[in-house]
Amino acid sequence: MSRSVAVLVGSLRAQSINRITAKALARVAEGSLTFDFVEIGDLPLYNEDLWQDGAGPAPVERMKAQVAAADAVLLVSPEYNRAVPGVLCNALDWGSRPPGKSVWSHKPAACVGASQGAIGTAAGQVHLKARMVTLGMIAMGHPEFYLRFEPEKYAPDGSVQDESLRKFLTGYMDAFARHIERLG
Ligand code: FNR
Repeated sequence: MSRSVAVLVGSLRAQSINRITAKALARVAEGSLTFDFVEIGDLPLYNEDLWQDGAGPAPVERMKAQVAAADAVLLVSPEYNRAVPGVLCNALDWGSRPPGKSVWSHKPAACVGASQGAIGTAAGQVHLKARMVTLGMIAMGHPEFYLRFEPEKYAPDGSVQDESLRKFLTGYMDAFARHIERLG
C-alpha cells in the first residue's frame, strides 16, 4: 500500500536545489510513497494573536490539515548559518499549536538537505533533528542524508541521470518507507 508523505521544503526559491532534491526523491519513491508538497511560503510570521477560537489563519489551517492527513512527514531543507531557515521554523511553530493539537506528534518523519558546500547541511540538520524530537515526531536516525548538490547529475527536467546518486536517493527512500511501515 502506498503511504502518503507531507513534504515541507525549507526554501522558497524557485530554483531551490532542495526542491529539486525533494522532487527527485518523489520520483524514486513512486509506487511506495506518495508525496504531497505543503506550501509554507504563505504562512504569516508566527503571532499568537492570530489564533481565533482555536483556529489559525487560512494558510495555517490548510497546512495543518495536509500534514494531519499524511502518514509521514519529510523535511527537505538547506542550512542557513549552520541552522534551520526561519521559514521552516515558522511552519514547525504554527503546526505545533494550539497546545494538545500539534500535527507533528507521533508522525514518522525524516529530514534531508542539499547544499553546494561539502557538508551538505549536516550542521543544520543537528538543529532540525533536535527540533523534530522536541515536537514529538518519530524521526528516522539512520540512514542519514547529507547531499552536496552537483547540477550535472540531473537532466533539465529534474530527473537524476547519475547512477550513484539514484542509488543513494533510492536507498534512503526505501529506508524511510520501512520506517513508516514499522510504525504502522
Ligand atoms: C546560506 N547558505 C549556506 N550553505 C551552507 O552550506 N551552510 C550555511 O550555513 C549556509 N548559510 C546560508 C545562510 C543564508 C541566509 C543563505 C541565503 C544561504 C547557502 C545555501 O546552502 C544555498 O543558498 C542553497 O542554494 C540554499 O538552498 P536552496 O534555496 O537552493 O534550496
